[in-house]
Amino acid sequence: MAVKIAPSILSADFVNLERELGRIANADLVHVDVMDNHFVPNLTLGLPVVERIAQVSPVPLDVHLMIDDADRWAPAFARAGAASVTFHAEATQAPVRLARELRELGVRAGVALRPASPVEPFLDLLPELDMVLVMTVEPGFGGQAFIEGMLAKIRRTRDAITAAGTGTWLQVDGGISQSTIARVAQAGADVFVAGSAVYGADDPAAQIEALRAAAST
Ligand code: DX5
Ligand code: ZN
Repeated sequence: MAVKIAPSILSADFVNLERELGRIANADLVHVDVMDNHFVPNLTLGLPVVERIAQVSPVPLDVHLMIDDADRWAPAFARAGAASVTFHAEATQAPVRLARELRELGVRAGVALRPASPVEPFLDLLPELDMVLVMTVEPGFGGQAFIEGMLAKIRRTRDAITAAGTGTWLQVDGGISQSTIARVAQAGADVFVAGSAVYGADDPAAQIEALRAAAST
């Protein structure tokens, strides 16, 4: 299981995005948080900005949609140049249809779960999914504290992925830092989003390597 580090540009300087992307060129993915002020009480960036980020980023885009009506909007983010598009389970009517549509557009399809949403309904759908995102904070803001109770959900998800043999990536997002990443990795996550931990560091690239090392022990 290769560890992947995905810095979230939510904690970057939004007026200097191209420069901020250059500071994380050693990352595996760049995590782009799209919020609509309805699904979550915060508003970030939309399609035109994602399109431009995709054009200049040295790292593939991992788009995390925290928006209502994902069935309608997610394919447009695939067309905008994302490598993966993750929609929320709570914001889709037809997760399998949407995942298939995303795959047909040539991107990896992910489903995200708020902390209170059970993963069990999705375990039979793993062959349809390239990634499951277990949120380890309530979505909406960077800099929140990791919810320890999510470790059990991560373990159950990892066990199901191993049993299914699908190779589905297991992503975690929220409160990931040098003090939490090792036990999250031990619970079975393999893709780690980190916003404030990376962009709050003096040297984001060095912080990425430190997180990678801590997740690999
Ligand atoms: C929160 C976003 C996260 C956020 C994580 O809703 O989905 O991606 O940027 O920030 P940190 O790593 O600071 O918890
Ligand atoms: Zn996110």
